[in-house]
Amino acid sequence: MDELELHEPVLVKEVLDTLSPAPGKVIVDATLGHGGHSLAILSQLGGEGLLVGIDRDPQMLATARRRIEAAHVPESCYKLIVADHSQLPQVLAETFPNPRVSAPDGFLFDLGPSTPQLLDPRLGLSWQSDEALDMRINPRLAGPSAADIVAAWDEAELARLFRVHTDERWAGRIARRIVEARAREPIRTGRRLGEIVAGAIPRKAWPPRIHPATRVFLALRIEVNGEYRTLESALPVAFEWLRPAGRLVVISFHSGEDRRVKEFMRAAVTPAQAPWPLPQGEARATARPVTHRPLVAGEAEQARNPRSRSARLRAIEKI
Ligand SMILES: C[S@@+](CC[C@H](N)C(=O)[O-])C[C@H]1O[C@@H](n2cnc3c(N)ncnc32)[C@H](O)[C@@H]1O
Repeated sequence: MDELELHEPVLVKEVLDTLSPAPGKVIVDATLGHGGHSLAILSQLGGEGLLVGIDRDPQMLATARRRIEAAHVPESCYKLIVADHSQLPQVLAETFPNPRVSAPDGFLFDLGPSTPQLLDPRLGLSWQSDEALDMRINPRLAGPSAADIVAAWDEAELARLFRVHTDERWAGRIARRIVEARAREPIRTGRRLGEIVAGAIPRKAWPPRIHPATRVFLALRIEVNGEYRTLESALPVAFEWLRPAGRLVVISFHSGEDRRVKEFMRAAVTPAQAPWPLPQGEARATARPVTHRPLVAGEAEQARNPRSRSARLRAIEKI
């Protein structure tokens, strides 16, 4: 693969500082991608450590494998697994059959799609795409595509989706315009949806630096790929499998994701504020904060890698 098509990892130093991989430790990179973070972690694990890399996209994982092999990492130091986060309980049970002997010292989640996935025209994730409005990043996903949702959901459901998933202020107007437009002609491409959404928002209310349809596309991607549902179930599973003093590190890229990460971590640190069922029904704190505020990319990284501008890293340590 051309180096230019590689996903550039964000906040690498911050990941190493908070995850603190060290010789002999066991780290699960639950979003392996092209292995940028994993390579940095492996460089600190030594010959006795183990990195378990998980990704649902076999193409991303194949590239990560090639890069790890090219770095001459001994085979005994890593295990790469194609799986979705919804399969984490089984994957972890198979990988760590005796948790008293071997269990994760750290978990990393670097959420959302990778750069090559975002740019893949076949997924129809962009308002510039003339391909089918699909958005199913996981090719095995059986649920509806974005085009199915846009064609079938009623106006109130669409408005709620945009409002609840991404706080879209103009959700009602956008939903109405979609319903009017699809009555004339089916909405088949990202470009067509982008035009309809842009036309629904008054021009003076367009956000300054992003396309006016950004939030609507994000809401559809989140729904089509079940991103919030998977995140809400994966974090407690990962936390449960951590060894005491193990670290959970999560990088999120938009406010809906970050809110869920923050709520989960706050509940583990201060159970009285738990909005969700507590890990293992605990009534006392099960974690201490590693980051008190989210870590963000410095100016130099933001200038070099625009994707890092929205990255927020939060971490807790299991007690
Ligand atoms: C932002 S990229 C990670 C990049 C990686 N840290 C690197 O340095 O190359 C996120 C990766 O997580 C994977 N992913 C996203 N959601 C997933 C899920 N529910 N289950 C498994 N993998 C997932 C995506 O396929 C993607 O490759």
